[in-house]
Amino acid sequence: MAISVHNLLKERRYPFIAFLFLLILFVAFFILTTNNSQPPPLYHIRQPSSHPSVTKIIPTTPLPEIVSNRTEIGTNRDSDDGDSGEGEGLVYEWKLCPGPLAVDYIPCLDNWKAIKSLKSRRHMEHRERYCPKPNPRCLIPLPDGYKVPVAWPKSRDMIWFDNVPHLKLVEYKKEQNWVKRSGDYLLFPGGGTQFKEGVNHYIQYIEKNLPKIGWGKRTRVILDVGCGVASFGGYLLDKNVITMSFAPKDEHEAQIQFALERGIPATLSVIATQKLTFPDNAFDLIHCARCRVHWDGYGGKPLLELNRILRPGGVFIWSATPVYRDDERDKKVWEAMVALTKSICWKVVAKSFDSSGIGLVIYEKPISSSCYKSRKESNPPLCDENLRPNTSWYTPLDGCISTIPVANTWPTPWPQRLKSKPLSLSTDPDAELAFYEDTKHWSELVTNVYIGGLGVNWSSVRNVMDMNAGYGGFAAALSDLPVWVMNIVSVNGPNTLPIIFDRGLIGIYHDWCESLNTYPRTYDLLHSSFLFGNLTSRCDMLDIAVEMDRVLRPGGVVIVEDSTGMLKKLKHILRSLHWSTNLHQQRFLVGRKSFWRPEKKR
Ligand SMILES: C[S@@+](CC[C@H](N)C(=O)[O-])C[C@H]1O[C@@H](n2cnc3c(N)ncnc32)[C@H](O)[C@@H]1O
Ligand SMILES: *[C@@H]1O[C@H](CO)[C@@H](O)[C@H](O)[C@H]1NC(C)=O
Ligand SMILES: *[C@@H]1O[C@H](CO)[C@@H](O)[C@H](O)[C@H]1NC(C)=O
Ligand SMILES: *[C@@H]1O[C@H](CO)[C@@H](O)[C@H](O)[C@H]1NC(C)=O
Ligand SMILES: *[C@@H]1O[C@H](CO)[C@@H](O)[C@H](O)[C@H]1NC(C)=O
Repeated sequence: MAISVHNLLKERRYPFIAFLFLLILFVAFFILTTNNSQPPPLYHIRQPSSHPSVTKIIPTTPLPEIVSNRTEIGTNRDSDDGDSGEGEGLVYEWKLCPGPLAVDYIPCLDNWKAIKSLKSRRHMEHRERYCPKPNPRCLIPLPDGYKVPVAWPKSRDMIWFDNVPHLKLVEYKKEQNWVKRSGDYLLFPGGGTQFKEGVNHYIQYIEKNLPKIGWGKRTRVILDVGCGVASFGGYLLDKNVITMSFAPKDEHEAQIQFALERGIPATLSVIATQKLTFPDNAFDLIHCARCRVHWDGYGGKPLLELNRILRPGGVFIWSATPVYRDDERDKKVWEAMVALTKSICWKVVAKSFDSSGIGLVIYEKPISSSCYKSRKESNPPLCDENLRPNTSWYTPLDGCISTIPVANTWPTPWPQRLKSKPLSLSTDPDAELAFYEDTKHWSELVTNVYIGGLGVNWSSVRNVMDMNAGYGGFAAALSDLPVWVMNIVSVNGPNTLPIIFDRGLIGIYHDWCESLNTYPRTYDLLHSSFLFGNLTSRCDMLDIAVEMDRVLRPGGVVIVEDSTGMLKKLKHILRSLHWSTNLHQQRFLVGRKSFWRPEKKR
C-alpha cells in the first residue's frame, strides 16, 4: 500500500500523520541501532525482514508420535457399535503447537522461514502460500476465555471479544467504523473505508447507478477484493447475494478471522503473482473498494486476472480515489486505468460521485471475443488456450486475455438458477441426466438422513464446508437453511467448480494434502463425501484429521461418508483427539470436536 500524504492532508488526519512521523523516527532509530537483526515486517520495508520473537513460535515439530500399541486412550466413550477398526491399537500422543501466536496458526501463510528467504516482496509475494513440509501435526491451543460463538444472525453485528481478541483495527479504523469494542463483545456497525454512510446506503447507491445489476436476481455470486471485515458481503446476504470476500493476512489484523467469526463467507487470498483459486468466467460481479491493488502495475496482470474470473457481461465496480480525486498521483493512475480497461475491451457503464465524497466507476466485460480481434494492437494478446496452464493452483498470473466461450448466456435469475442446467456442464447428453440425478440424490439424502437422522443440531451451524463438493449438490440441498457453504473442489479431480458458480454457489480449488487458507476455528460443520480414498495414496489421513481439527470450532461437527475401512481408521484418529464419534448405517461417521486440548507443557 502507498499512503498518499496529500490524501491524508485532505482527510485531515493530522494525528495519524504525527503518529506516522514518530513511527518513521522509531524505525530509523531501530535500523541504526541494530546490526544483525532486521526491523520487524512493517509494510514499507521491502527487503526480507525477520522478527526474532515471531520466528521462535513457528510450530515445526511434526507430531504426534505414535507411542505404543496399547488400546484406545482417553475417557471418551460413546454409543458406537464398538467394533475394532483398522489402525486401532495405535496410540497417538498429541501436543499443542508452541508459542504465543499458535492460537491463530495458519501453516501455509505463517511459514516465516520461507517468507524470509523470498527474493522479492514487490508484488506481495510474502502473502502467498508456502506450505511447510512435512505438515505440522501439532494441535492449535484455544484462546483464553474462548466461548461457543454468538449465533447467526446476531453474529453479523457482534462477536465475543475473547474468541478473536484483536484490537488493532478498533484503533486503526476508528473513524471508519469497521469494528468497535463494547465490554465482552466486538461490534460491527457496518462501516468501511468507502462506506461513510453505512454499507446499506452504499449497496443501494450501486444499484441506483446501474439498475440492471438486480441484486439477488441477475447478480447472485460476487467477489469482494480486499474486503476488510466483510461488511459489504455480510449485508448483501439480505438481498440473496452470496459474496466471496477475501483479503490477505496483512496488517489489517484478523480481518478475515472477524468475518468468519461473524458467520460471513470469507477466505484468505491475495492478488499477487499467482492466479486466484477460482475458475474462469465465475463471478457475476467483482468489487474493489480502496482494495489497494495496483491494477495497472505488473504489466496489468492483476486486472487481466479479474478479467479471467469475471463472467462475460459481468461488471467490475471500482471505488477508489483515482476515480474521484484529481491530485497528480490519482490522475496518473486513472489515466493508466483508462488505457488498460480500453485495451481489454471493458466498457464504462456508470461513473458517479456520492454526496458523502466517494465515487465509483463500473466497467462491463464484453460477451464475445469480437472486440478483442478488432483492436488496432493485439496488446495484451489473446491467450493461446493450448499453451495456457489449465489449473489455477500455484499458477503464475497470465499476461494475456482469456478468450470468451462462444456459447455463453447469462444464467437464469436466482433462485431458479440453483437447479437449472449449468452452462459449464459438458455437452455430453448423459451429463445433464447425471447432474439432475446428483441434485436429486443430495436433496433426498440431506432431507432424509442429514437433517434429523444424524443427531446434528443444525440451529447451531452457520459456516459449512463441503470438502469434496462435486457439483455442489450438498450445498444446494441446504439452501433453505440459514447456513452458507464453502464448496471445495480438488485440484486433482474433475473440474466441477465452474458448475458450482453457474448454480449461484461459491467455492475454491484446494488440495487436501495441504493446509487450507483459513484461520483455526472458523467452521461449524465439515462434510466429506468419499474424499479419503483419492487422497490416501498421496498423503496421510492423520494430516487431514489434524487440519480438520484446526479449522473446526469446538463443538463443531464433521459428517463423513466413505468406505468402512476409511471410516474406521478416521474414527480411531478422531477419538484420540477426544472427539465423540457415531457411526450410522455403517456408512456415515459423525464426529464432534470437544473443547479438549493436550496439557500445556511448561
Ligand atoms: C483500505 S482497506 C478497504 C476495506 C474495504 N474494502 C472497505 O472499503 O472498507 C484495504 C483492503 O485491501 C486489502 N488488500 C491490500 N492488498 C491487497 C491485495 N494485494 N489483494 C487483495 N486485497 C488486498 C487489505 O487487506 C484491506 O482489506
Ligand atoms: C505395533 O504393532 C505393529 C504390528 O502389530 C508392529 O509392527 C510394531 O512394531 C508395534 N509397535 C510397537 C511400538 O510396539
Ligand atoms: C490439464 O493439463 C494436464 C497436463 O497438461 C492434463 O493432464 C489434463 O488432462 C488437463 N485437464 C483438462 C481438464 O484439460
Ligand atoms: C441447538 O442449538 C441451539 C443454538 O445453539 C440451542 O439453543 C439449542 O438448545 C440446541 N438444541 C439442542 C437439542 O441441543
Ligand atoms: C476419485 O477417484 C475416482 C476413481 O479413481 C475418480 O472417478 C474420481 O473422479 C476421483 N475424485 C476426485 C475428487 O479426485
